[in-house]
Amino acid sequence: MSSFLPVLFCIFFLPPLSSSAIPSASFSPSDNYLIDCGSSVKVDMPDGRVFKSDQEAATFLSSQDEIKVSVPSAPVPSPLYLSARVFLSDSTYSFHVTRPGWHWIRLHLYPIKDPKYDLATATFSASTDEVVLLHSFNTEKSTVAVVKEYLINVTGERLSVHLTPMRNSFAFLNAIEFVSAPTTLISDTASNLSPVGDFPGLSTTAFQTAYRINVGGPLITPRNDTLGRSWEPDAAFLHSKEAARSVSVAPSVIKYPDGVTPLIAPNWVYASAVEMADANVANPNFNVTWNFNVDPSFGYMVRLHFADIVSKALNDLYFNVYINGKPAISGLDLSSLTSDLASAYYKDFVVNASMIAGRVTVQVGPMSQGSGAANAILNGVEILKMSNSVKSLDGEFGVDGSRADGSGSNRKAVAAVGFAMMFGAFVGLGAMVMKWHKRPQDWEKRNSFSSWLLPLHAGHSTFMTSTKGGSFLGSHKSGYGNFYSSTLGLGRYFSFSELQEATKCWDQKAVVGVGGFGNVYMGELDDGTKVAVKRGNPQSEQGITEFQTEIQMLSKLRHRHLVSLIGYCDENSEMILVYEYMSNGPVRDHLYGKNLPSLSWKQRLEICIGAARGLHYLHTGAAQGIIHRDVKTTNILLDENFIAKVADFGLSKNAPTMEQTHVSTAVKGSFGYLDPEYFRRQQLTDKSDVYSFGVVLLEALCARPAINPALPREQVNLAEWAMQWKRKGMLEKILDPVLVGDVNPESMKKFAEAAEKCLAEHGVDRPSMGDVLWNLEYALQLQDAALQGKAEEEEKKAPAANPLTAQEQSNVGDDNSSSGTAVGSEVFPQVGDIKGR
Ligand SMILES: *[C@@H]1O[C@H](CO)[C@@H](O)[C@H](O)[C@H]1NC(C)=O
Ligand SMILES: *[C@@H]1O[C@H](CO)[C@@H](O)[C@H](O)[C@H]1NC(C)=O
Ligand SMILES: *[C@@H]1O[C@H](CO)[C@@H](O)[C@H](O)[C@H]1NC(C)=O
Ligand SMILES: *[C@@H]1O[C@H](CO)[C@@H](O)[C@H](O)[C@H]1NC(C)=O
Ligand SMILES: *[C@@H]1O[C@H](CO)[C@@H](O)[C@H](O)[C@H]1NC(C)=O
Repeated sequence: MSSFLPVLFCIFFLPPLSSSAIPSASFSPSDNYLIDCGSSVKVDMPDGRVFKSDQEAATFLSSQDEIKVSVPSAPVPSPLYLSARVFLSDSTYSFHVTRPGWHWIRLHLYPIKDPKYDLATATFSASTDEVVLLHSFNTEKSTVAVVKEYLINVTGERLSVHLTPMRNSFAFLNAIEFVSAPTTLISDTASNLSPVGDFPGLSTTAFQTAYRINVGGPLITPRNDTLGRSWEPDAAFLHSKEAARSVSVAPSVIKYPDGVTPLIAPNWVYASAVEMADANVANPNFNVTWNFNVDPSFGYMVRLHFADIVSKALNDLYFNVYINGKPAISGLDLSSLTSDLASAYYKDFVVNASMIAGRVTVQVGPMSQGSGAANAILNGVEILKMSNSVKSLDGEFGVDGSRADGSGSNRKAVAAVGFAMMFGAFVGLGAMVMKWHKRPQDWEKRNSFSSWLLPLHAGHSTFMTSTKGGSFLGSHKSGYGNFYSSTLGLGRYFSFSELQEATKCWDQKAVVGVGGFGNVYMGELDDGTKVAVKRGNPQSEQGITEFQTEIQMLSKLRHRHLVSLIGYCDENSEMILVYEYMSNGPVRDHLYGKNLPSLSWKQRLEICIGAARGLHYLHTGAAQGIIHRDVKTTNILLDENFIAKVADFGLSKNAPTMEQTHVSTAVKGSFGYLDPEYFRRQQLTDKSDVYSFGVVLLEALCARPAINPALPREQVNLAEWAMQWKRKGMLEKILDPVLVGDVNPESMKKFAEAAEKCLAEHGVDRPSMGDVLWNLEYALQLQDAALQGKAEEEEKKAPAANPLTAQEQSNVGDDNSSSGTAVGSEVFPQVGDIKGR
């Protein structure tokens, strides 16, 4: 029926082993059957594995035939291929299973020359009791060994591999492996690419390795992989070589955070990558693309491996990942996922067969929005064919002869696909790994942090030992100050006169913000740099050391989504901080009240994601455990590219041991955003920020203030009001009207769920900022997918050359009005009627 040509895997050819290879993680398989079929002697492999001779393995085989073929010492790719067994009738290898779960089956097929049996003509099928492995398979005159690698969750006590010759032909096998694989290799769920969502049920899917690639690096042989896998270089699949550059580090540099082990992929895989060539010059707006030919009648699990081996610092690399043109990960932020450079991360996707036109395409490219390094990387790819509805991995028929649904009628002749690659098979858990820094127990002792900059400054009774006319940080004359600041990492020192000039003598017209601490002025330095200058109210009370600590702390905080401190001035008892200037001002101004052009849903998502990243970094990042304490839409600022940055941070530090916090934290914050638990118990945790951020999310969704006293009583408090609608499942009723038709309902739902979780009554029930971030990214992905769907739909509708398949046509018919956002129409009936804005 289906005419699969052989899938050619190049073999792993190993030079004699010189030194002992020490795998960096050990795994001892509970079942480990390695058989060199037809061989009269056992075979020691260079990777340390020993294959049993035919004699030793006799008990595993039931066959009426005793035909062994061999070649003396011909140039075969591996000692395993000096011999083979030939089967004229149905034969079975059967193995006892000591522990159910994932197992590898590897079939080695290399048509050695034999005067009597021409192995290159052998055509046969292979299956287990449940899974079809090979259907009418033929190696033809392959000059490389074909290694078929399968990964199967074995449930019974025995596993059998049946070999069935086709009529007038015979079967053969050079070697067979049946080996336990780690349970953690594959989790039950991966991300489905289209429609976006979870894809459960992987633990009962059978897999066959199609590709296993070490991107940017050399061939990795079983010798360097504890699980005996091989990883092929990527060059043959790279679409445009000029666009890509290989990078590598020493494998020992690679770190494995909790949840990822070398069993997932050896450090050799993570130690090399391909990045964008010349990412930082010319026009950096391109993707790096890899194409892999596959059999289009199956679904595939695609596992992507990443480790940031290119950045010099955290939080510098954000990029997009696409599979088959669909967004797989928007703004992949390895820093927030692993909290470390050169740290292993991987993610699994399921690609539906229906969206594959005979190949899997993986692309990485820079994010469209502004700053950060314009770069993108990929360290490894695995592509695993998934068994179909009748548990076949080859052809459309199951073991019992049943036929896969949806196959047959419109099946195109399956193109012959010749892969030049190795064996290997399996897939992995899509678990996202997020490493959290533990806070040191004593960290709250390190200082009692001031709230000098807190906009709603609740009077403090710390007295300042004033040093009239002097400088808190020593003399700044004769350049000593600059030395002092650079050694303490305080950023740049500004003289008072310099700032006076920059702000035109503290011109009231230059005031861009007012708070309890004093004013914020827009200023322009000599070199034209625009800055925001915060000048402490000289009447405000502030300890010298606290000011100093504050500057020290703020200057250590460096993140793309935090407004950065440029410098300070403490001359003449002044307390002035100089920040980067954010030209688009607070997010709130773009949501309501200022009549600015309204933000699209995608922009709002990107802004919320940016702010969430900033907060996540504050909570967990370099300067550990800072609680913002005043998260609100006026403290999230936008730069000229609408990149969101959190401002007014560093106001307070957390105290994880609860007892002392009662004393020290007078409740601060802004009404409408205040965590009710914090208010009641006066115990500050980072979950208070999460609550406030939930309110920010609602503001973005509804475009109204957190508190609006002008409204009827039940509507005054946004959090309460919105959650009432959310519980009724009618959140769309209070959606910002300009978003109707723009927002994808699934995306909005995910977003609203994130907001709801943030607003949980008790801090412990609220997610961490990292989890919130993840949910928002997911919402963005849903929105992107919908936008793309919309665009595609429009393309299809245009009477262009693009002929539709029957299925696509019926989709269009079903979905006359909603521009391809099919998912949403039930949730959100009115959206469908408004065509793309
Ligand atoms: C494999 O490991 C050996 C030593 O453990 C090392 O010398 C060699 O470079 C590695 N090769 C590859 C391709 O991983
Ligand atoms: C294998 O499948 C069974 C159900 O058929 C499931 O209970 C088990 O968890 C699976 N094992 C693994 C390792 O996923
Ligand atoms: C990268 O690829 C994706 C998906 O194919 C596409 O949507 C995007 O426009 C590409 N980006 C660039 C800069 O070409
Ligand atoms: C693939 O997509 C089609 C329609 O898009 C759907 O009917 C089918 O269930 C999907 N298959 C898988 C394995 O998700
Ligand atoms: C789809 O819309 C067109 C024009 O708007 C209309 O003529 C047609 O009857 C509609 N089809 C369905 C199935 O609603």
